[in-house]
Amino acid sequence: MPVLFDDETRTFTLNTKNSTYQMQADSFGYLLHLYFGQRTSGLVDWGIVPADRGFSGSPYDAGDDRTYSLDYMPQEYPSQGTGDFRSPSLIVRDKNGTCGADLRYSGHEVLPGKYTLPGLPAVYSGDESETLIITLKNQRLGLSVKLLYGVLPDKDIITRSAIVQNEGNKNITVHKLGSSCLDFMHGRFDLITFYGRHAMERIFDRQEVHHGSHIIGSRRGMSSHQYNPFMILADHDATETSGRCWAMQFVYSGGFEAEAELSQYGQTRMIMGLSQEKFAYGLAPGEEITAPEVIMTFSNNGLEQLSHNLHACIRENICRGKFRDISRPVVLNSWEAFMMDFDGKKILDTAESAASLGAEMFVLDDGWFLNRNDDYRALGDWTPDTQKLGCSLDTLVKGINALGLKFGLWVEPEMISEDSNLYREHPDWAMIIPGEKPVLGRSQLVLDLSRKEVREYIYHSVSSLLEQANIEYLKWDYNRSINEVYSHATSNSKVLYDYMLGLYDVLERLNTNYPNVLIEGCAGGGGRFDAGMLHYTPQIWCSDNTDALDRLYIHYGTSFGYPASSIGAHVSVCPNQQTGRITPLKARYTASMTGAFGYELDPRILTQEEREEIIAQIRQYKQDREIIASGKYYRLSNPHEEAFCAWEYVSHDGVDVIVNAVVPQNHGNMPPLYVVPRGLTPGTVYQDTQTGKLYPADALMCEGLPLKFPTGDYYSYTFRFRRT
Ligand code: DGJ
Repeated sequence: MPVLFDDETRTFTLNTKNSTYQMQADSFGYLLHLYFGQRTSGLVDWGIVPADRGFSGSPYDAGDDRTYSLDYMPQEYPSQGTGDFRSPSLIVRDKNGTCGADLRYSGHEVLPGKYTLPGLPAVYSGDESETLIITLKNQRLGLSVKLLYGVLPDKDIITRSAIVQNEGNKNITVHKLGSSCLDFMHGRFDLITFYGRHAMERIFDRQEVHHGSHIIGSRRGMSSHQYNPFMILADHDATETSGRCWAMQFVYSGGFEAEAELSQYGQTRMIMGLSQEKFAYGLAPGEEITAPEVIMTFSNNGLEQLSHNLHACIRENICRGKFRDISRPVVLNSWEAFMMDFDGKKILDTAESAASLGAEMFVLDDGWFLNRNDDYRALGDWTPDTQKLGCSLDTLVKGINALGLKFGLWVEPEMISEDSNLYREHPDWAMIIPGEKPVLGRSQLVLDLSRKEVREYIYHSVSSLLEQANIEYLKWDYNRSINEVYSHATSNSKVLYDYMLGLYDVLERLNTNYPNVLIEGCAGGGGRFDAGMLHYTPQIWCSDNTDALDRLYIHYGTSFGYPASSIGAHVSVCPNQQTGRITPLKARYTASMTGAFGYELDPRILTQEEREEIIAQIRQYKQDREIIASGKYYRLSNPHEEAFCAWEYVSHDGVDVIVNAVVPQNHGNMPPLYVVPRGLTPGTVYQDTQTGKLYPADALMCEGLPLKFPTGDYYSYTFRFRRT
């Protein structure tokens, strides 16, 4: 059984294939965290060493025993005002503003299967999973906190969430709502996070945990380009293949806060939850709020195993719908080719050319609706510009379908331009503080998705497009952060959270009613690249930066938490539109070879040589894409530290292997470079499918493979092996 409860010691044990998580409701009713590590049997209760420590007070119930203090006890869900002065998971105030909620164990239940979170995205799983719900209560406030634990034994995944309920008869306000907390009594750790900016997202950052707090998060109402809602705590000396590491990944697309704190006693606390800023969720008697889910996993064998656990969970237990398991089409997207400067003929000619290269879908990006010839206006008015297109959307799509291509369309439904009919009719639908001039982002405002009528409008705008033409893909964009937290209809301290519930509601309805439409998430590239969005959009445009070199770093960082099947990447023109860099077509292809692949260029103006190369690339990609999307991903080098970036896909049966490498810079008389593959089947022999050469797997994984001397910069390599 994945969830065990020992009555005598009041201990809860959650077991997965390779890990054990343990907690205990102690004699005072505090829920202590005992252990999260390598799978074990028995009670791991020897780690806590009580001691009388100055200025670490004791709960009243401890009487004269000064050795018991929540200031150093490892806890499951620390609440402010209990004598623990570290960062709490929960801050609640009563109606007078008094802080503090002393939470004690009041009961638990074990349920078959994995819990769901109504209105919020969450991991789903079959019969093998179990749910543990532990209830903590505070009598004074009439507060109940249900801690939810989902255990996916085969996946080595434990999920967490919390439901805070006001069971009293007075209003209370939740000022901080955490989802997960891990307390470590000792250890020297590194914190790994993924920072960035627009067009340079999810850059790997590894720092030793120092005294004080290391906080990452987003105040933008979106998970953001700046920090991904994902972090890893690792043994200081952990590598790809050795050492202990723990991950927390937020299944939420709005503001968040994640923190690693090294306390005065050298203990480390790792927490994740909603952003505290612009948040104060009032709960009237009988009301509740649910903390978004956190996915947790532990690896005793380094970062690679941690990523494999998360990749499998995202691919199979977060992503849904028919596109979860099927190969995604090779697309040609119009954005970098034309921006908004096109007409129907140009689109059809381009689509024809794309079809002749082997592309499978044409995606018409921004600029196709009325008055949308620049990015200053028209968002909200989702009426096709038939004059610009030269025909109805339906006729255009039929023309593209006749070329043997599927059709996809760009939309940005959460936004409104001041210069739009929608704004003229419903100015109060935009999030603007009355009497204040709003901050504009890309000259646009955000619609208030906490309002039902706004959600209805968005849903019907999008569904009417889907009804009027054979649209098989939507690129769902989002191009600014939320600044003004104001709603004409919702309490302002609730807007940001209710906005996300609103967005998920619209996406859920579209998924349900249009199961054959693939939605790709996007937020100015990867500004909302998170497990929450992946529940509705199984792939996300990874970055607006299509430069081959920068993508190596972006994909490297992204790979720690997200599978290749979720990463949208396209080959674009040179010089690159974001960086001006010139890279070989082969390097651009190698860097873009992920699970949601395509081109973002004008195929009509390619040279014959480029055409032939692209035809060969697409043919090859179609052969490889299944291995890329569902195989295991191995990072074979750290591009921040090594002279090359190398990575590998191994099919789930271990038979097929693709090793990619790019050497960004060539230098005179370069020392030889070796790539060392991993994940091959020991004791077997692999054949290089291009040269026919045979390689014993064990030797290949030990000695590595020399890269022939590069010619010029951005020299790239792809090796394909097949087990004989
Ligand atoms: C931002 C996206 O990331 C781009 O790919 C493109 O779709 C533009 N928006 C269109 O406005």
